[in-house]
Amino acid sequence: MKILILGSGGRESAFAWKLNKELPKENIFIAPGNAGTLQYGTNVNLNLSNFEEIGKFCIENNIDTLLPGGEDTLVGGIRNFFENHQMLKNIYVFGPDERGAMLEGSKDFSKNFMTKYNIPTAKYKSFVKGEEQSAFNFLETLNPPYVIKADGLAAGKGVIICQSLEDARDTVNEMLLQNMFGKASNKIVIEEFLNGIEVSFFAISDGSDYILLPEAKDYKKIGENDTGPNTGGMGAVSPVLFADENFKQKVIKNIINPTFNGLKNENIDYVGFVFFGLIKVGENPFVIEYNCRMGDPETEVVLPRLKNSLSEIISFSKHKKLNEISPEFVKDFCSTVMLVSKGYPGNYEKGKKIEISNTFESIVFHAGTINEGNYILTNGGRVLAVSSFGSSLSEALDKSYKSIEKINFEGINFRRDIGQDLIKLEVQHGNY
Ligand code: AMP
Ligand code: GLY
Repeated sequence: MKILILGSGGRESAFAWKLNKELPKENIFIAPGNAGTLQYGTNVNLNLSNFEEIGKFCIENNIDTLLPGGEDTLVGGIRNFFENHQMLKNIYVFGPDERGAMLEGSKDFSKNFMTKYNIPTAKYKSFVKGEEQSAFNFLETLNPPYVIKADGLAAGKGVIICQSLEDARDTVNEMLLQNMFGKASNKIVIEEFLNGIEVSFFAISDGSDYILLPEAKDYKKIGENDTGPNTGGMGAVSPVLFADENFKQKVIKNIINPTFNGLKNENIDYVGFVFFGLIKVGENPFVIEYNCRMGDPETEVVLPRLKNSLSEIISFSKHKKLNEISPEFVKDFCSTVMLVSKGYPGNYEKGKKIEISNTFESIVFHAGTINEGNYILTNGGRVLAVSSFGSSLSEALDKSYKSIEKINFEGINFRRDIGQDLIKLEVQHGNY
């Protein structure tokens, strides 16, 4: 296998790290990658919105497998582009086509899909420009808080939760009439607020069968105790003990199986990852959102726990033989803590020198980093993900935080409470 990974975050670092345990460095390319991915393969400076350029690189370098990390290229139809191109159609794109990627690319599509296939999700209605009054009327049928979502991709920022009806109405106007999220908010979804605790499930599909990966929980808010604005994710842990066997069986029966059956029924040949963003309300799982890719930083705790070879999973998927794979996971807990730049998720500075020493108890996945001469500099909001194993969640987290003491850059920021909610929950249940 000669593989090109698209992206430059912690998720793509984790893919390259895992693949490099199985494949020689010469067979792994990352576009554009970061300072860390250089350990596992070759970084290539490609413009990810230029599919011609990506295709040309694949042909010239005999790439046989493409692994898009993020949603933009998938929603933009990179698989269709490769499949419809005479010179590229034999390259295996490990991701859904444009229709499959709509699970993430359009909230309206995914909500319709869930309704059609009886998959539990919050009650909702969609509205377009000109339907503001109907949107206000629908808001009045709901109890606060109000959840208003841009239909299209908005870099993880397209969900606004409003406490008052007045704020909710203003948000409707801002999205529909004032292009709050550009084209992405030409259509909006308003939905009922679900009160519960979130957990994410991940599956890999070859279009016929699927395998499950370990579940994870991420921490989206910038501030401790889940305060402040949303980020891409400030940390993650896996496994999540409240997602016990009974809950998992409900997730499989009520959500995962109907999702894959629905995709087949819609004639969508879904290949690659499905990320099920779930919320446990009482004892029951509901879907908050689908993503057509792995999560970041969830990948940094899920992949270290996967014992199987990822390249083998991808190869078996190519031959539609995923049913022959028995996924096996490390039993230990894995935690990751994101180190971010000062100011993130707002404006932040780049180019700060990163010092790292003695972090051998952890795996340090690079995200926003770049090499300059002999230095590694910050080059993004999320800079490094520090992942560690432990026989308990606290032990895993202790190791991540100990390693963080050995890392520094100007303005370094991170959450000190990753996993603490789950530890408290386990103490309450007497499992600690
Ligand atoms: P999304 O981008 O759809 O995952 O939404 C971002 C975040 O908003 C989720 O992780 C939830 O914390 C929250 N959220 C979205 N939809 C709902 C809902 N119906 N009820 C409660 N919280 C929600
Ligand atoms: N960590 C959330 C996401 O990847 O969407």
